[in-house]
Amino acid sequence: MSSTVLEKANAFAQAPYDVLALRQDFPILDRKVHGKPLVYLDNAATSQTPRQVIDVFSDYYSRCNANIHRGLHTLADEATAAFEGTRHKVRAFLNAEDARQIIFTRGTTEAINLVAQTWGRTHLGAGDEVLISLLEHHSNIVPWQLLAAERGFTIKVIPVDDSGALDMQAYRELLNERTRLVAVNHVSNALGTINPVKEMAALAHQQGALILVDGAQATPHQAVDVQAIDADFYAFSGHKVYGPTGVGVLYGKKALLEAMPPWQGGGEMIKTVSFDAGTTFAGIPHKFEAGTPAIAEVIALGRALEWLEEVGVGAIGQWEHVLLEHATHAVSSIDGLRILGTAPDKAGVLSFVVDGAHSQDIGLLIDQLGVAIRTGHHCAQPLLHHFGVDATCRASFAAYNTLDEVDTFVDALNRVIGMVR
Ligand code: ALA
Repeated sequence: MSSTVLEKANAFAQAPYDVLALRQDFPILDRKVHGKPLVYLDNAATSQTPRQVIDVFSDYYSRCNANIHRGLHTLADEATAAFEGTRHKVRAFLNAEDARQIIFTRGTTEAINLVAQTWGRTHLGAGDEVLISLLEHHSNIVPWQLLAAERGFTIKVIPVDDSGALDMQAYRELLNERTRLVAVNHVSNALGTINPVKEMAALAHQQGALILVDGAQATPHQAVDVQAIDADFYAFSGHKVYGPTGVGVLYGKKALLEAMPPWQGGGEMIKTVSFDAGTTFAGIPHKFEAGTPAIAEVIALGRALEWLEEVGVGAIGQWEHVLLEHATHAVSSIDGLRILGTAPDKAGVLSFVVDGAHSQDIGLLIDQLGVAIRTGHHCAQPLLHHFGVDATCRASFAAYNTLDEVDTFVDALNRVIGMVR
């Protein structure tokens, strides 16, 4: 272990950030996989869930399960208050101006599709350009491709340099008076690159374009302030911030959301429905929340955000950085191992390929040793192809990972490479 990593780890041990105590919140971390203690390093795919969040489900279904915004009875009132309580927590979490700017979706993917199908369908047409980056997850590529095929606008791609950092000079050059939207992730899921979204937003706005930020991989690791970024839209997913699957958030600037047409029609999103006089729609956020939402999941997301606040997302990000530095240093001595993604500004993601060893084989064999990493294209095929690979192995860190786990992972990796080569 390098002395800098040790110094940082020691500093953390003295600080309120107590990783061993915090692990007690996660029952799953006690389980064994193939007879070995689980080392869970697939956090960029989904983070594990603290018992405080798991308990919300039991409490909700045992005490106040009811549909929301509809009934006048006590259970409906309690469920509605808890559901709307999360909206206020998300507002504070993102530092949005108003809780009405928080729309619940099934996840980041649905949030981006919502913007494409409402704002995009209304504002994008032939001659317009949408700028995305080579770092995007398929969920911030395909919705724009689907719409472009229909509406006839052009998608342009911001390139990356060899480290996986966005080429900001190319970004400046690609922006022009035809650019209507920049859609970019805050942190790359495949490489961990942190993008300068605040600077990107200012440049987009100078050209009169909007910016949508996919924050799925940023929100678990750093404090996000949508007003400071000046994001027009910002999306994230519950299951990556220690919350449940099936729920996510779209933040939007108020004037934009108010002007956007509804997307899905149904109950909850209307003011009046008539066969003769037509239908009028609810105001934001309900205009975008047709049907019964994931009530328990939304309430549990609120608890997950409280948990993040209790621990401190800033402290988590710093701890993950210690883990990343330690892991990067340890794997860099492995013969034939190449790290993809070495940008100076990086979140806790370590993506790599190994000469003479298929990523898939490494993933399967390392699982036999209790270590969970992700292998594959990480839903970022254009990016991986740019780096000349179809798949990488990816270890990604979270609040509860330890330096010992990193050592276990590196030992296991060495053993597995020895087996497959
Ligand atoms: N987007 C998730 C990942 O990066 C699923 O693994």
